[in-house]
Amino acid sequence: MGKDVIVACDFSSADQVFEFLDKFEGKKPFIKIGMELFYAEGPAIVRELKKRGHKIFLDLKLHDIPNTVKKAMAVLADLGVDMCNVHAAGTVKMMEAAREGLKNDDGTGPLLIAVTQLTSTDQERMEKDLLIKEDMDKVVMHYAKNAKEAGLDGVVCSPHESSEVHDACGGEFLTVTPGVRFADGDVGDQVRVMTPAQAKKAGSDYIVVGRPITAAADPVAAYERCIREFVD
Ligand code: C5P
Repeated sequence: MGKDVIVACDFSSADQVFEFLDKFEGKKPFIKIGMELFYAEGPAIVRELKKRGHKIFLDLKLHDIPNTVKKAMAVLADLGVDMCNVHAAGTVKMMEAAREGLKNDDGTGPLLIAVTQLTSTDQERMEKDLLIKEDMDKVVMHYAKNAKEAGLDGVVCSPHESSEVHDACGGEFLTVTPGVRFADGDVGDQVRVMTPAQAKKAGSDYIVVGRPITAAADPVAAYERCIREFVD
């Protein structure tokens, strides 16, 4: 599995995405489409970006009853996305259903990864709102193991958790990590960050990078810097 940089295209319209991606000329970065863009533009934006030659991580974080998730995933597989995700909190059974729904007739399908606990959920909220009394770290590793048991390809996690996830679930189990910032860049609202080079050392398989690229004066140079630090 080759390491890659996934650019989070957190824009609210197709026009903004095209204007951004046109700057890359011949290059075709792996891009992440989230809820905002997908709900604004629908499946057409996925088809168009696939047609333009991009790999796509469709970040919709499905969480529903197994049958509904399975059927929704079959629709996403038909769109030709390369990676998509679910909430591990939906249970092993739901993740197994998601996996089944994503399989093409020949057994191939997009990579499927799980969100463990959202980074916006801290220990206190987990205990008070969700009545989960274990340590956050234990919960995250338990959800990662559930994802592995359900046949998923990996998890979204902090680069700080990559090596522990690999220890618990094996080196082949993918860690897809946001929270990446350049050493000389703005941290913004991310709390525990790593540079692309540090994320590489920590064993992350993919880094998801948004504003350090999308808000850069020269987005293409920022993307190339990520590739140099993380992939090359
Ligand atoms: O702009 P920035 O680099 O912070 O963007 C990171 C991307 O990764 C955003 O699309 C954000 O929603 C997503 N993400 C995250 N933390 C998580 C899961 C997803 O920052 N735990």
